[in-house]
Amino acid sequence: MSNAVIRIENLTKRYGLVTALDDISLEVERGTIFGLLGPNGAGKTTAVKILTTLARPDGGKIEVIGTDILKDPVRVRSLIGYVPQELTVDPYLTVQEHLRYYADLYHLSAVGKDSRIREVLGLVGLAGYENRRARYLSGGTKKKIDLACGLIHRPPLLFLDEPSLGLDVQARRDVWSYILRLKEQGTTSFLCTNYMDEAERLCDIVAIIEHGRIAVIGSPAQLRSQLKRDVISIEIASADEHQRKELEVLEKAVSQLRIVQGTVKNGTQLKVYVESNEIALPQILQSAASLSIPIRTITYSRPGLDEVFLHYTGHPFADERKIDA
Ligand SMILES: Nc1ncnc2c1ncn2[C@@H]1O[C@H](COP(=O)(O)OP(=O)(O)OP(=O)(O)O)[C@@H](O)[C@H]1O
Ligand SMILES: [Mg+2]
Repeated sequence: MSNAVIRIENLTKRYGLVTALDDISLEVERGTIFGLLGPNGAGKTTAVKILTTLARPDGGKIEVIGTDILKDPVRVRSLIGYVPQELTVDPYLTVQEHLRYYADLYHLSAVGKDSRIREVLGLVGLAGYENRRARYLSGGTKKKIDLACGLIHRPPLLFLDEPSLGLDVQARRDVWSYILRLKEQGTTSFLCTNYMDEAERLCDIVAIIEHGRIAVIGSPAQLRSQLKRDVISIEIASADEHQRKELEVLEKAVSQLRIVQGTVKNGTQLKVYVESNEIALPQILQSAASLSIPIRTITYSRPGLDEVFLHYTGHPFADERKIDA
């Protein structure tokens, strides 16, 4: 039996002629961070709105924490937290007032309410901001209020729609560390993002979505290694004839390794294409050592999620939005 907290089978959603979600099926395991990664208009927010019971699907079966979202939406809402894509803060309320409002919305008991508010404010780095009005705070700080409000009732499952959108580098890092801290505490997160680095840094499993369809699902490492395109570049000490010979010998030796898919020699440099750097590097070093061939530098690189996107969708990941760095 699987440990899924979200089960989606054949979910479809149309807006007039637009098919926002096209026959999506996926599961999210308890305690993980699951990422829906895709460009503008891919269908991410639509998926989150349906999962949080704010929009109705046109077809499919969806269970959130063992509850059918159409049969018992009230129970689903009591078990989840939701931090929407757009800021929801009220400029005239203080930070504390926002939290009190949400605490009441979720019927938190009076006992322990203040201490819970203190706890979530501490968690998102807003301790000391209790009496500040939202209108005087930066965009990043406002986002932290949204995050704190989504957490106030200790939901076991949190939906985060583009949590770092529009934040500067430091604020993004802060938000990432809160999300990871929540994971340590056992919270499952379903996160929509437009950013490859965010998916890479946070997500245990990523589903790449485009035009309402899931192109591929896997861990970032799995997705990259499925491309089988890691490359190791080896340079030997100098370019004299003897060393050229050594490079040839080395090329021949590493070509025999099962992990190696191809080699390209260029002057003093040898490029070795492998399925996985981690496994191939020690074997290649071992080959060089056993042949007593001195290596000057050895570097490796691997495809990013942008290359994964390109591979599975047939075109580059386009996004006109940029991070305010
Ligand atoms: N309420 C709506 N009415 C009509 N069309 C909609 C509505 N909401 C979304 N759409 C359309 O559905 C598609 C998916 O939109 P959605 O907002 O889910 O994308 P997204 O992946 O969240 O994009 P972004 O990264 O820009 O937030 C788009 O073509 C969008 O125009
Ligand atoms: Mg969206």
